[in-house]
This record gives sequence, structure tokens and C-alpha cells, in this order.
Amino acid sequence: MKILFFSAKPYDKVFFERHNHYAFEMEFWETHLGPHIANAVKPGTDAVCVFVNDKLTAEVIKTLAERGVKVIALRCAGFNNVDLEAAKKYSIRVCRVPAYSPEAVAEHAVAMILTLNRKTHKAYNRVREQNFSLTGLMGFNLFGKTVGVIGTGKIGTTFCKIMLGFGCKVIASDPFENDELKLRGIQYLPFHEVIKQADIISLHCPLTAENSYLINTSAISAMKNGVILINTSRGGLINTKDVIEALKKGKISALGIDVYEQEQKLFFKDLSGSIITDDDIQRLISFPNVLVTGHQAFFTEEALSEIAESTLLTVSSLLSNKVIEEDSVLLV
Ligand code: NAI
Repeated sequence: MKILFFSAKPYDKVFFERHNHYAFEMEFWETHLGPHIANAVKPGTDAVCVFVNDKLTAEVIKTLAERGVKVIALRCAGFNNVDLEAAKKYSIRVCRVPAYSPEAVAEHAVAMILTLNRKTHKAYNRVREQNFSLTGLMGFNLFGKTVGVIGTGKIGTTFCKIMLGFGCKVIASDPFENDELKLRGIQYLPFHEVIKQADIISLHCPLTAENSYLINTSAISAMKNGVILINTSRGGLINTKDVIEALKKGKISALGIDVYEQEQKLFFKDLSGSIITDDDIQRLISFPNVLVTGHQAFFTEEALSEIAESTLLTVSSLLSNKVIEEDSVLLV
């Protein structure tokens, strides 16, 4: 059985080869999957394994079906980049990794808050220049502050528990309330109430057609002056241009993003010798109070091991019609 990997990086090869207990033939392509390359998939490819910025449009899925591909395996949790209706139409099964180390992403969100608040990114550079001045480095105690969490699934729940440990008041919005979190003192409120009360807002909901641009000018105007906004979820949750305006006005005092709505053109690539034509990301990077990381929140040893182990198990089970953990399969 053969799996073709798209958007493959050297670390993907290392982890998938380490966890290949199924004697899969595995081929790793660096290019992302899209209409430009789908035709190059050779017959005999049983599954394609894709990542967050591969584009599985109806056209791509039709081509994959014609090539005999039976499974699309997302080696990530989000699946907003796959046309599930088209997969159903062409009888291609789609699976994902529903949970892999939620701690990895939650801890990265916390790292962003701590960096932006205590300005360790600036201190690091200053001290290297033998500048030990503290001017401009003042932060605030997290203890006692209100943290608003949008989405309390696996990652959001982990994030809530960490912030409780800092002594924060944690409020959350999610159509499905988590009783364990409520017992720990977390209060569920409507989205607009959460963003109104929070000193720090962290997004942990998936991107859907309904919540695209959840954070726009109207939502931002309801927020506290000087709010810190963190997005480790999906770029499309935030209207970047609206957030840039709010940063210019000081309405948002700091922004930490691990995801960006136009990230497919940028992230996971070394563009240090290139001219970047995306003015929005360049503007964001220019702010001293904005921290951009290139979709690295998931990037821990533990998460990569779990992703490889779980993906290969699910693909093997799907191809041999075995029983599978329900959450992993989006369409059977
Ligand atoms: P999950 O499915 O366990 O939880 C998502 C939660 O969001 C659910 O409880 C759902 O009810 C809630 N939700 C949906 N729409 C909502 C809305 N409009 N407002 C409030 N809550 C809403 O997902 P998990 O594992 O916690 O992951 C969350 C997201 O994190 C993923 O969808 C993915 O986009 C992102 N992610 C980012 C990674 C990174 O490396 N930056 C890595 C892994 C996931």
C-alpha cells in the first residue's frame, strides 16, 4: 500500500518512517497539493497525506479519484481545506488526527502571552547589545486578569487549565459547555460578553463558514482598550486589515498569531532571500507589539510522534476496512 505525502518537510519523513509499522511504501513530495500537481499523482497511490495548506478542492479530489486514491489523510486536526462534499461524491474517505498533544498548542498560546506581556523578545535582543535598560519593558501580572477563551475543545480546555494555574479569571464561549471546566470555576458567556470583559483573548475554535472573520472591526470595538489577542487556531478567524487598524490605534495592545489568513504563500518556507509582496504580513511584522510564528504551535516531539502514529494507524485501518476511532474519520 502506498501513501504519497504533500507539503512534506524533512521532519515529516523522519517521524513517519519511524512510526511505519505497516510496511507502507511512502513517497514524500515537498510541493503542496493543488490543481497544479494533482495530475502527477500516479495510479497505485492508495492514500495522499496532506497538511494545513494543501488545497483539496472538488477539482483536485476528482483527479485523485481518477488516479485511484482511496483515502485523504490530514496530518492535522483542522479540515477547512478539504471539500468534504466532493470527497463524498467521489467515494474518497477522509481522515484526520483529531487530538495530538493539545498541550503543544495550548502551551504555545501561553508562550505568546508571556512573550508579548513581559517583552522577552525585546529583552533578548537588548541584552545581546549590552543594553540593560528596562525602559519600555514593563508588563503586568497575569494573576487576577480576565482571560477570554473562544472554543473550549481539546486545546481550549488545556489552555483554560494552564491560565487558571496563573491565577487568572477564565471566561469562555463555546456552544458546547464543558462541565469539568465549570466545576473548576470557568464561566461560560456569550461570545460578545467574553470579548467585552477579557484582558486577554485566545482563539481555540475551528474555522467554519459561520465564524470566518469572527474578529473584525465590530467585534474589536466591543473589546477592552489594550486587549491582548492571541490566535493559534486558523488565520481566517481574524480580519487582518481590521486588526492592523486596531493595533495602529492602540485598541489592541499586543497580537500573537501562529496562523495567518494568507499563510499558504508564506509559512513553512524559508523566504529570507525573497521579496514578500503581502503588505499585511509585512505591516504586522513591523509592529513591536506583534509576535508572528509560522504555524509552529503543534511542533513538539510528542505531537509529531502522535500525528505519525495516529495517521498511519487510521490509514491502515481504512484501507483494510477495520474499525476506526470515530473522531478520526470525517467521511467513511
Ligand atoms: P476541538 O474540535 O476539540 O474543539 C473546538 C471547539 O470549538 C469545540 O468545542 C467547538 O464546539 C468550539 N467552537 C466551534 N465553533 C465555535 C465558535 N464559533 N465559537 C466558540 N466555540 C466554537 O478542536 P481542538 O483540537 O481544540 O483544535 C482547535 C483548533 O485549533 C483546530 O480547529 C485548528 O484550527 C487549531 N489547531 C492549530 C494548530 C497549530 O499548530 N497552530 C494545531 C492544531 C489545531
